[in-house]
Amino acid sequence: MCGKCYCFLGVFGMVSAADFVGRDIISIKDFTREEIDYILKVAGEMEYLAKGGSDMLRGKIMAALFFEPSTRTRLSFETAMYKLGGAVIGFSEPEISSIRKGENLADTVRVVEKYADVIVLRHPAEGAARFAAEYAEVPVINAGSGAEEHPTQALLDLYTIIKEKGRIDGLTIALMGDLKYGRTVHSLAHALSLYNVKLILVSPESLRMRREVLEDIKKRIEISEHTDVESVLPEIDVLYVTRIQKERFPDIAEYAKVRGSYKIDLNILRKAKENLIILHPLPRVDEISVEVDSTPFAKYFQQVRNGLVVRMALLALILGAIKE
Ligand code: NCD
Repeated sequence: MCGKCYCFLGVFGMVSAADFVGRDIISIKDFTREEIDYILKVAGEMEYLAKGGSDMLRGKIMAALFFEPSTRTRLSFETAMYKLGGAVIGFSEPEISSIRKGENLADTVRVVEKYADVIVLRHPAEGAARFAAEYAEVPVINAGSGAEEHPTQALLDLYTIIKEKGRIDGLTIALMGDLKYGRTVHSLAHALSLYNVKLILVSPESLRMRREVLEDIKKRIEISEHTDVESVLPEIDVLYVTRIQKERFPDIAEYAKVRGSYKIDLNILRKAKENLIILHPLPRVDEISVEVDSTPFAKYFQQVRNGLVVRMALLALILGAIKE
């Protein structure tokens, strides 16, 4: 990238920046591998703007509509917008908006788009982001739709793997934890199935990967399912751990049965490859012992930083600030 304008030089397959302008980001399944690789390349170019800032999105407004709790996703989208010179409106407590008065999502979206150039939406309902995109003229970015998907998290997970391992192809990657209700692992599994990886799924029996995700990805990559991480740990290059999604259990008694059923600690890690990396979308509850944080395996806090550059890239691309 040259210093003055925001031109990305060099050909990148058949994909170009123009392909992203005005585009919704609803599901990772809407993207090809070439498009994902392009986004990750632009994210790499954002590393230096993340330090110094830029005015490439000056005058642009992002609306962050968060109907569910969030720390990293909302703050990283907001920071990304500010770093690029744009501004942010929105709410993270729907109770203080007109939702409280009974306004529906379709109306909320049609109002907010009169102020904003892009809408970032987190909502407990599966399908909410696609529904919102049908009503909105401006692009909608899915920041988490119930237990269904979290596509921008998957992009930052891929970016972290490339940054730490230099590649995705050829790796053995394990997704561990709540594979039933965890939206991050649904998006990530789909994304990884576009690469040449061996995927290992580790979960309690009752929290196995959603069948429809499994059926889809097993058409493309080799997958095995396990209930115990120890036997497979020696072959894993990337261990992606998730918390049990307590809030999504229809029956709290079911949650009680699996609570605390897995934990990564120093003892287990004695069986790990020396260059294993451990990722986690965070928040962590008790599934990774805090003593792991100071080992070279732990990359989950670097992962947070990577979310910033990936979201800067997405906003710049969607809002047409990147020129070929
Ligand atoms: C995740 C989410 O909201 O799905 N958090 C995040 O966005 N980093 C994971 C989780 O809540 O467990």
